[in-house]
Amino acid sequence: MKKAIIIGATSGIGRDLAKVMSENNVTVGLTGRRLEKLESLQNELPGDSFIMQMDVAMEKEAITALNSLIERMQGVDTVVINAGVGGANQEYTLNTELYLIDINVRGFVAMANASIHYFAERGHGHIVGISSIASLLPNPRNSAYNASKAFISNYMTGLNMKMRKWGKDILITDIRPGFVYTPLTSGNENMFWVSDSMTASRQIYTAIRKRKRVAYITKRWRLIAWLLKIVPDGLFVRAV
Ligand SMILES: NC(=O)c1ccc[n+]([C@@H]2O[C@H](COP(=O)([O-])OP(=O)(O)OC[C@H]3O[C@@H](n4cnc5c(N)ncnc54)[C@H](OP(=O)(O)O)[C@@H]3O)[C@@H](O)[C@H]2O)c1
Repeated sequence: MKKAIIIGATSGIGRDLAKVMSENNVTVGLTGRRLEKLESLQNELPGDSFIMQMDVAMEKEAITALNSLIERMQGVDTVVINAGVGGANQEYTLNTELYLIDINVRGFVAMANASIHYFAERGHGHIVGISSIASLLPNPRNSAYNASKAFISNYMTGLNMKMRKWGKDILITDIRPGFVYTPLTSGNENMFWVSDSMTASRQIYTAIRKRKRVAYITKRWRLIAWLLKIVPDGLFVRAV
């Protein structure tokens, strides 16, 4: 991997992943809505970097911004789609549900679609989507968040199958973190096996380099994933 774009690099996992990549001589393209955060991250990185302000919820503009960033970087070999929002929606307000879906689902699909078309023309490429262990279970506090991660994990499996059918050398890696200390989880008191963001980012970088199809971050979450797959849905309904 020589050049990579991280969609959502202004904080948390995306920010630390940018640092890990840069330390490993990867030229990085950094995106997010907060320009000042992109600028301050760029100043901290040891290697070459490019920045581009973008809101993935405005999908047409975001696709134009992504393509223009790729052009400025004179091509990339990896796109990491990390942008995501969470938080509880206790009142179950429609706008909160739709806001999350616009970013976590529509935004994800827009970025994946533009990346696949770019890599298909280029002949090869690697897309990395940051899903979650949450993709494997329902959540009464924020049903849309878990459902959005279930969507993108299932979607990435489908895209890998599509690439095989198309005969394209394009790999999609599904990253499923457990709990990680970031702004997204601040205030969440019901966490366990929590990783710091730098440890998680280092493991994500290794999974990308090893060209994994699915990776649990940190690795011990694979055990929880296995348990979640064998526990009947009815048990969840009774447990919450
Ligand atoms: N932390 C965890 O425990 C955990 C566990 C499993 C999965 N994840 C996933 O990991 C990813 C990163 O989350 P994090 O924990 O690192 O949270 P975070 O610190 O809040 O980072 C989220 C990133 O997404 C970007 N983003 C959000 N909305 C965006 C939009 N509309 N357009 C462009 N960028 C947008 C943010 O940038 P701007 O706000 O500047 O736009 C920020 O860079 C998310 O997809 C999350 O669901 C996190």
